[in-house]
Amino acid sequence: MEIKPEIIEKIKLLDQKYAAMGQDLTSYLDGLLYADYLTYWDYVHLDTLLSLQTPRTSFPDENIFIMYHQITELYFKLSLHELKQIGNQEKPNAAFTTARLHRVNNYFKNLTHSFAIMIDGMEREQFLKFRMSLLPASGFQSGQYRMVEICSTDFIQLVAKDIRENYRNKNASIEEMFEHIYWKEGATELSSGKKTLTLKQFENKYSVTLTKLAHEFKTKNIWAIYKSLSAEEQKDEKLINELKWLDVNVNINWPLVHYKSAARYLQKNPEDIAATGGTNWQKYLPPRFQKRIFYPELWTATEIEEWGKSWVEDLLGSKV
Ligand code: HEM
Repeated sequence: MEIKPEIIEKIKLLDQKYAAMGQDLTSYLDGLLYADYLTYWDYVHLDTLLSLQTPRTSFPDENIFIMYHQITELYFKLSLHELKQIGNQEKPNAAFTTARLHRVNNYFKNLTHSFAIMIDGMEREQFLKFRMSLLPASGFQSGQYRMVEICSTDFIQLVAKDIRENYRNKNASIEEMFEHIYWKEGATELSSGKKTLTLKQFENKYSVTLTKLAHEFKTKNIWAIYKSLSAEEQKDEKLINELKWLDVNVNINWPLVHYKSAARYLQKNPEDIAATGGTNWQKYLPPRFQKRIFYPELWTATEIEEWGKSWVEDLLGSKV
């Protein structure tokens, strides 16, 4: 059999590649000879993926609830992958940052759109029953959701809004700010005013990881990267648009659809909630109360004042 010149060329290149690492090409060719062909199901670990749904009850709709959470976590992972690529650029530039932010915006746009799977994709009666078997677990405990926030903005922006400016003025450490992080307000029992078990579990698992990440991203979160660009690049309209969309997607649009599903399934009068040891989610979840804003410098005082109300879509159009 005649060996084509392209193949000889490739073998020479391979030989150089392995020689550079002190490796013997012949052994690697043996490996190639004996290796099985790759299959789709092995590559994406399909059997493992499809075995990860273990409902706690026999209500069929619980499967939807589990899988949609898993889908969301994968989108969060995709988002983090891009946010980290932006943070790790050797020489940050506007074009790369814009392109990668656009991807994150697409992921969140998809999540916002697909939330209908929660809002009207399960029977309320089934949901209200199976959720009781899941206590005290809550999407509130999503570590990746908090990681997306930490990678997106200066940590001070995640301090509870009423004391944020005090902590900004005194140049507080990450640890001090972490004590007053906004999400603690969503995990206090209405009846006793104490930390919920949901929060205690979350803190046990994630406090160390999240404070470490906050230190790591102090100089490479998206806002820090933006501010490190040249004055000219900071004026790039496409980049500013993506930043504003990230703010809107993560801090308004997704929280609003999520809140809609909480309202659809859980709306009761406040006394009933307090009596069952519930949280104050009606006062906590709506973006206009949380006023979590990644990039306040990019918004006007009125836009900040009106945060979470209907101005956003009108202002930015629906392009991103
Ligand atoms: C029927 C669907 C859902 C309902 C009724 C619901 C309800 C709630 C409620 C009441 C809270 C407030 C904390 C608590 O009391 O536990 C919460 C927080 C949260 N949930 Fe959900 N949730 C739903 C779906 C999801 C999904 C699919 C995700 C995706 C991971 C998710 C992620 C979160 C996150 C990240 C928080 C914290 C939000 C914040 O701190 O601002 N939830 N949810």
